[in-house]
Amino acid sequence: MMLTDKQKSSLVQAAAVARQRAYAPYSKYLVGAAVLGASGRIYTAANVENAAYPLTICAERAAIFKAISEGERKFPAIAVVSSNGGSPCGACRQVMAEFGLDTLVLIATAEGAVVQESTVEELLPGAFGPQDLTPGE
Ligand code: THU
Repeated sequence: MMLTDKQKSSLVQAAAVARQRAYAPYSKYLVGAAVLGASGRIYTAANVENAAYPLTICAERAAIFKAISEGERKFPAIAVVSSNGGSPCGACRQVMAEFGLDTLVLIATAEGAVVQESTVEELLPGAFGPQDLTPGE
């Protein structure tokens, strides 16, 4: 599915709003994510840290899990917003890959400037995925 520029900027905007709700007292690195579901609905989330550091959940995974829990299975696009337009971590790339390699990933700054636009496949070439668990099918 191709997104219009308007759809892209509203997804980035939704991620920027969600970013303001980040709970990141340790890193102080606020991240927001917005996932567009195949239904047309948008699901947002922010990173949530924990005093036991490894329990932290990234914005992207929080948004995807939220959407999946609401019944979505396919995502035309996801926007990720941080102060400097940082790149999604490996764990989030793997979770994105589970639900489709064609998902468009918009990486943007808090001001809404898109610094990178790529597919999940480009971010995680050769991903291990559901197909690897059903060899020969
Ligand atoms: N973080 C995200 O939310 N998404 C990413 O893709 C990179 C990192 C969060 C996790 C942690 O709360 C903070 O940013 C610093 O790593």
